[in-house]
Amino acid sequence: MKFYLDTANLDQIRAGAELGLVDGITTNPSLIAKEGMDFKTLVGKICEIIPGPVSAEVVATERDAMLKEARELAKVADNIIVKLPTIPEGVKALKRCVDEGIKVNMTLCFQPSQALIVAKIGATFCSPFLGRLDDIGHDGMTVLEEIRLIYDNFGLQTKILAASLRHPLHVVQAAKIGADIATMPYAVFDKLLDHPLTDIGLERFLADWKKTQS
Ligand code: G3P
Repeated sequence: MKFYLDTANLDQIRAGAELGLVDGITTNPSLIAKEGMDFKTLVGKICEIIPGPVSAEVVATERDAMLKEARELAKVADNIIVKLPTIPEGVKALKRCVDEGIKVNMTLCFQPSQALIVAKIGATFCSPFLGRLDDIGHDGMTVLEEIRLIYDNFGLQTKILAASLRHPLHVVQAAKIGADIATMPYAVFDKLLDHPLTDIGLERFLADWKKTQS
C-alpha cells in the first residue's frame, strides 16, 4: 500500500519526504486555505518536493468551469492529479478529463455506487472519506470493503485512495482491506512507527549493554 500525506504544509511535506516514505500528496481547498499562499504556486512547490502524484482540487461546481480549472491545474506540473467532487457535474467533467488525458482523483466519495460510477468512467483514483463516515455513525471500513469487492469483481483499474483517516488503526484496517493508497495527516503518519514497548525495550537493551562496558 502506498502512503500519501494529506496536507499542503511544505514543512510537513519536506519532513515526510526525508523519511522516504511519502509516495504522493493529497490536498483540498481547506488544507490549501490554511497555508496562506497562492494556490498554483503552492501546488507547484509541492510537486517539486514530491515526484509522485499530487492532488489539487477544483473549486467550480459546474462542468465547463471545472474543466477549465482542471486544464489549468494540469499545466502546473506533470505529476498533478486533478481532484473533482463526486457530484453529477463532477462526473461529467471527469468524462471530459479522461478523454483529454487529464488524470483525476474523484473526491468526497461516501458510497460504493459513487465509486463504481467513477471507475466505470475511468477515474485514476477514487477517494472514499472513511473518517467522515465514522463521524456520522456509519462504518467507513465496510464501505471500503464494498468498493474493493466491486473493483475486483470487474477488474476496474481505478486506484482506491483511502482518505479521511484519523489514526494508525485506520491505516492498518485500510491495508487489510486492500486499499491501494492511504492518505493521512502528518500527525497520523508520525504515529505509524510509534510503540511504547519499542521505546521501553530499546532503553532496557541499551542500559544492559552499558553495564557490560564498565
Ligand atoms: O483530503 C481529503 C480527506 O482526507 C479529508 O479528511 O480529516 O478532513 O475528514 P478529513
